[in-house]
Amino acid sequence: MVDEVKKVVFPVGGMGTRFLPITSAIPKEMLPIVDRPLIEYAVREAYLSGINEFIFVTREDREILENYLNKLFKNNEISFLPESFSEDQNSCNSKQKNLSVSFVVQEQPLGLGHAIWCARERIGNEHFSVILPDELFLANTPCLKQILDIFYKQKGCVVGLNPIPIEQSQRYGIVDGQVVEDSVIKLSALIEKPDPENAPSNLALVGRYVLPPEIFKYLDLQQRGIGGEIQLTDAMANFLKVENIPFHGVILDGRRFDCGSKAGFVKANLAFGLEQEEQYSEIFHYIETMKTN
Ligand code: G1P
Repeated sequence: MVDEVKKVVFPVGGMGTRFLPITSAIPKEMLPIVDRPLIEYAVREAYLSGINEFIFVTREDREILENYLNKLFKNNEISFLPESFSEDQNSCNSKQKNLSVSFVVQEQPLGLGHAIWCARERIGNEHFSVILPDELFLANTPCLKQILDIFYKQKGCVVGLNPIPIEQSQRYGIVDGQVVEDSVIKLSALIEKPDPENAPSNLALVGRYVLPPEIFKYLDLQQRGIGGEIQLTDAMANFLKVENIPFHGVILDGRRFDCGSKAGFVKANLAFGLEQEEQYSEIFHYIETMKTN
């Protein structure tokens, strides 16, 4: 019996270079999708998946983000999520109380693996989850919950996957493996940002992870990978080779928006705008007129 996963790490200290110049003034995770920042969707997903300890790996000079989160988590409860949130609570076992929020500073932007490593003392000797807020999903079941459901059956490591056009393989971590049940794949390899010719499949890591504490043995090595960065994918790949621990991927059920890209960000604004009843017809008709102009 594994312990429940109660902790999530959000790496929010990235430079956001693809969104300059706006990210010189606002952290990427504070960019709005309709009426709330990306980070709020990520927090909401974790909350609805039963998480109650929220760890943000941030940088100095991120007051805008910290102030927003401190308001969101007023009195150790989430205080201003959308009105529809109260209905969604049914998908959570019970209302989480006594939520804990903490910030860890990543002194240097050395990559995603480094950001997760910075949270090691907060994690301790427990399984934990990771959400990358720029990977946004419109899903009936929160994506992290989809992963946790498989984790409680299979144990070990579980990561979220989505098919991508193979020509985009250099933007993502790509996996190899074998289907073991509907949408669940037993992984045999992971490669960070391979060329399309070297990509073992079209299944990409899409920013959702449940990891065991043993991953820190591999992150401790601080090995530099592609782009000179300490890559989480490399640590997971080494872990998979050495440890005798199950490692699965779940093809996530939902509509995915890669908000790390400008096109994905604009599409997310349209899709989430259409989700709001009061905006629906105006946005819908605007899209229709664009088709004819
Ligand atoms: C990171 C990960 C990569 C993953 C991607 C998802 O890359 O390193 O494995 O596929 O997020 O968006 P980044 O977008 O930070 O370059």
